[in-house]
Amino acid sequence: MSTTQTAERRYADFYRHQAKSPTLRGIYQDVYGDDYPAELEPFGFVTRTDLDRIAGLLDPPRGGLLVDIGCGRGGPGVAVAQARGARLLGLDVVAAAVEGAATLATRLGLPDAEFRKGSFTETGLPDSVAEAVLSIDALWMVWNKPAALAEVARILRPGARLVLTTWEPAYLDHSRMLTRAGLVVDSREETPHWKERQLAVYAAVLAETEALSRELGPGAEVIFEEARDTPPVLAETPRILLAAHRPG
Ligand SMILES: C[S@@+](CC[C@H](N)C(=O)[O-])C[C@H]1O[C@@H](n2cnc3c(N)ncnc32)[C@H](O)[C@@H]1O
Repeated sequence: MSTTQTAERRYADFYRHQAKSPTLRGIYQDVYGDDYPAELEPFGFVTRTDLDRIAGLLDPPRGGLLVDIGCGRGGPGVAVAQARGARLLGLDVVAAAVEGAATLATRLGLPDAEFRKGSFTETGLPDSVAEAVLSIDALWMVWNKPAALAEVARILRPGARLVLTTWEPAYLDHSRMLTRAGLVVDSREETPHWKERQLAVYAAVLAETEALSRELGPGAEVIFEEARDTPPVLAETPRILLAAHRPG
C-alpha cells in the first residue's frame, strides 16, 4: 500500500466528522487553554504560539504564494496567510480534507484560498513558484522524506523559505536531510510545552473513547491508535520546528 493510500484510509473518516466532535475540541481546549486556535479546527498539535512563530519566520511578500503541504482542513495555513497577506494554496493527499477546506477558509475570511489534492512528493506545481512553503505536523507521515524535501526545494523560489513542524526520532536528522535537498537550515527548535500537552491530550482521548466513538464514528480509530501507541516513544521523539531557505 502506498503512503498516499495509507493517509487516505487513516484520515478520510476522521476529516468527515471532525467538526462534529465537541468532545475532541473540548479536550484540546482544556489542555491548551487560550493557546489552542479552536476556530482553525486544526488536526494536530499546532498552537497560537507556533503560528505566530511560523508566520514571523516565513515572512512571504504581500500577495506572494504560500503553499501549505499536508494542509488538512486548511485552518492553520489560512491563519499564516492572513497574518502576512499572502495567497494560499493548500495541498493534502486526503480528498476529504481539502473538500472541507475552502468552506472553512471562507468562514475564516480568506475566500480566495485554494485547496487541491496533492502530495509532498508530487505537488504538481512548476519550479520556483512558491514564495514560502509551510507544513504543520505532516512530514512524519511521509515515507520518502528526502523526495518530499527535494520537491519542496524545487518549488521554492530562490531565497524563499520553508517552515515545518514534525517529530524527530533519534534515527532521523531532518537538518541533514534539508541540507542534502539543497536547502540552508536557518533554525531548529522544540516547540514550547509540546510533550506534556501531547501526553495530556492522549490521556484525555483514552478517557473519552465512548463519546469520541459516538461523535467521530470509524474516524475515531485513528486518534485512539495514536493515543495508545505514541506515549512510550514520545520522550525520544521531540516535536520540532524547522526553518530553512533555498539559496540564491
Ligand atoms: C496531523 S495532520 C495535520 C493537518 C494540518 N496541517 C493541521 O495542522 O491541521 C497531517 C496531514 O498530513 C497529510 N499527509 C500525510 N501524508 C501526506 C503526503 N505524502 N502529502 C501530503 N499530505 C500528507 C494527512 O492527510 C493529514 O491531513
